[in-house]
Amino acid sequence: MRSLNVSRETIPHQPRIAIINQKGGVGKTTTAVNFAHGLALQGRKVLLFDLDPQGNATSSVGVEKYTTNPSSHEFLLAKDDPPPPTPTAYENIDIYPANISLIGAELELSRLGEEQMTSALRKNLKKFNHTHEFILFDAPPSLGLLTLNILVASSHVLVPVQCEYLALEGLSMLLETLDQLRDGHNQELKLLGCVLTMADLRTNLTQEVIRDMRQNLGPSVLETLIPRTIRLSESPSHGKTIFDYERWGVGARAYEALTREVLRRLADEVVKGNTRR
Ligand SMILES: Nc1ncnc2c1ncn2[C@@H]1O[C@H](COP(=O)(O)OP(=O)(O)O)[C@@H](O)[C@H]1O
Ligand SMILES: [Mg+2]
Repeated sequence: MRSLNVSRETIPHQPRIAIINQKGGVGKTTTAVNFAHGLALQGRKVLLFDLDPQGNATSSVGVEKYTTNPSSHEFLLAKDDPPPPTPTAYENIDIYPANISLIGAELELSRLGEEQMTSALRKNLKKFNHTHEFILFDAPPSLGLLTLNILVASSHVLVPVQCEYLALEGLSMLLETLDQLRDGHNQELKLLGCVLTMADLRTNLTQEVIRDMRQNLGPSVLETLIPRTIRLSESPSHGKTIFDYERWGVGARAYEALTREVLRRLADEVVKGNTRR
């Protein structure tokens, strides 16, 4: 893979990136897994948290969902030191897997006090001594307690938006939630951007969605478009990322571009932060 011309020092320390959208089927897991591998191929050490009880991110990187290894459920509810993550077959990617038991974790969270209910993940991350440069959270399709825990624990948010009818619907609610978090539990939370997924540039619908998104959200919309391609939908059933499944196809190229764009945005943040000081 081509190098990114973004030096290691210019990236904020250990960004914790939430991949969020309360709608299902918009490309969150596909983005989490392939962005993770994009970073890993740049030599960046990535810790991926699968926080969706469907466990799709887990199986998409070839890890068994029903393993005896520590899951994100156990990490979330660990009373003492959190257990270690599971290495994947991919160099530089470790994961906390998920399966249906995570629904139980959400219930247990709901029985905690108001403050702890949303800060369990953040609290355990603080206790956790790790060397990963990036933490990525694959979120479930809701704005429930698991997602709130992710948002309280994150430094950045990446929002996949599917190029479909009513793509913008629900986004304002999500952006309001981010504002509320910034006013309360997590002042450092930043929107990295929205990434348009499943784009088919031959259709009017995709063109309209791109125009509407850019009109309404301006620079919050990433330049990178993730095309709709059958390869991206096939690779999870082989337990492979797109870089492993079809290294030189349009899907891998798009996720490589996304990786590069996000790294650039993170680097810009550091530059702007320095000039403000
Ligand atoms: N760019 C794409 N092209 C084709 N299919 C895609 C693309 N992105 C995701 N998919 C497929 O669409 C479905 C939903 O994607 P997924 O990433 O699981 O969404 P979410 O995690 O938001 O529910 C999956 O079957 C996935 O393989
Ligand atoms: Mg998913």
